[in-house]
Amino acid sequence: MERQPLTSLDHRRLLVAPSLLAADFARLGEEIRRVEAAGADILHVDVMDGHFVPNLTIGPPVVEKLRPVSRLPFDVHLMLTNPRAFVAPFAAAGADGITVHVECADDVGATLEEIRAAGCSAGLCLRPGTRPEALLPWLGRIDLILVMTVEPGFGGQSFMAEMMSKVFWLRRAITAGGHRIHLEVDGGIDARTVGVAAKAGANLMVAGTAVFRHPGGAEAAIAGLHAAQRELDEALR
Ligand code: DX5
Ligand code: ZN
Repeated sequence: MERQPLTSLDHRRLLVAPSLLAADFARLGEEIRRVEAAGADILHVDVMDGHFVPNLTIGPPVVEKLRPVSRLPFDVHLMLTNPRAFVAPFAAAGADGITVHVECADDVGATLEEIRAAGCSAGLCLRPGTRPEALLPWLGRIDLILVMTVEPGFGGQSFMAEMMSKVFWLRRAITAGGHRIHLEVDGGIDARTVGVAAKAGANLMVAGTAVFRHPGGAEAAIAGLHAAQRELDEALR
């Protein structure tokens, strides 16, 4: 399938990216089809190494098997101490965007270059304790910023509203520099918190529990998240 870098998606649109972490792992293919049919814009794939974060998830062989199941762009979030070695394998498996943590132990510049050389859009992620200024040297070389709104490692945690000043600061930096960068938030996003994140300037909403485990179904869940387009329009005005 043709690669769909996230740069091809409208930066002013509120995009919903269900996180596969909250899906039923016994039926991953069906679960992806379900959220795609329900109106998801992107699929968020969380990859953990048991070292950068205290949990393990999936690797390139699983992503490769899931790729033909869906037309959604795959947004691969690498929570790895050494992500560089996994850029090529995930790109080959079908990732469209690859995000690494600015706190990782690898050479960040070289890793970003490898991501783009592989034809994927390149993202940098901040843990809750990392200041947004850490991204300033990289703004000209990334397509996406991911602000963690929980400590990475597990789904189903509570949204950290105190991260919104970081989102606001980064939105201002993106606008001031004239950059085309998606501003993504991840952790505790639901129908209630999505408006807060959009108001601060986030346009790409990762939501695991709130989509895959919504009692009213994924369609209602995704429509509820898309409704925050109104707050985003205000923030981007
Ligand atoms: C946490 C992951 C998130 C997580 C979000 O480390 O990066 O993507 O799945 O899950 P919810 O939406 O349930 O907080
Ligand atoms: Zn994630």
